[in-house]
Amino acid sequence: MSTLPGTPPARSSDGSAGDADYGAIGPGYRDFRRPEARIAALIEQSLAGARTVLNVGAGAGSYESSGFEVTPVEPSAAMRAQRPAHLAPAIDAVAEDLPFADGAFDAAMTTFSVHQWSEMEQGLREMRRVTRGPVLVLTCDPDLVRDFWLYRYAPLVLDTEARRYPRIEEITRILGGRAEVTNVPIPRACTDGFNEAYYARPEMLLDPAARKACSAWSFVEPEVSARYTGHLRAELESGAWDEAYGPLRAQEDYQGSLVLISALPR
Ligand SMILES: C[S@@+](CC[C@H](N)C(=O)[O-])C[C@H]1O[C@@H](n2cnc3c(N)ncnc32)[C@H](O)[C@@H]1O
Repeated sequence: MSTLPGTPPARSSDGSAGDADYGAIGPGYRDFRRPEARIAALIEQSLAGARTVLNVGAGAGSYESSGFEVTPVEPSAAMRAQRPAHLAPAIDAVAEDLPFADGAFDAAMTTFSVHQWSEMEQGLREMRRVTRGPVLVLTCDPDLVRDFWLYRYAPLVLDTEARRYPRIEEITRILGGRAEVTNVPIPRACTDGFNEAYYARPEMLLDPAARKACSAWSFVEPEVSARYTGHLRAELESGAWDEAYGPLRAQEDYQGSLVLISALPR
């Protein structure tokens, strides 16, 4: 979905406002994308001192801590419907046009979302406008996504990721002020099932439901996905995967493309 600069993004029938249709791929998201405690701790640490926190592209509520008064914004009805009852209901709005006053929040966050916005710059400027303190962006560095072993099996999936993720310097330039960029280690049993979360558990990517929770796979034709997973399955069965990457199975964490940006206004 793309739009003219300055105009609100087009919305799909379920309200999805980014480049992926969560009406189609959203159901079941929460079964595979549960917040990872170590990533949550890092986010919470970066939000320390805030009372009110805006969460943009909030989805099913991952990384919303009970230690803050969180206001979630989520355009997709399928994603809003998966929010657990103990979390605040999400407001139906888009990053590019946030319905809040200037400086309304102590802090803001967006996790695994910024690469999907049709007007990324406008969305980040909106986040900066409504936030007095840090704006946090959990995202992937497009220069690093192809370093993952999955590139050997599913090149178009990771080419899609590399094309969609904005460059880290672009994000920090738009947010302005003073930015800290932290590489986020991914634990071996990471509960948040993005592609790299399965670095030590390649069999997980043979599960179509696990792949559906990673939007990049939805940009690849089903026959291409079938070919990719067939190749992975064959190399797991023959032992070729383990020969090439086997030590990863025992590796406690993995330094992939995941980064946390914390941008302070000055
Ligand atoms: C991969 S999910 C991440 C959800 C949640 N933040 C998480 O970490 O699990 C991406 C989310 O971004 C939302 N999104 C896409 N485009 C958006 C936009 N323009 N404004 C706000 N949210 C958007 C999608 O609807 C989806 O819920």
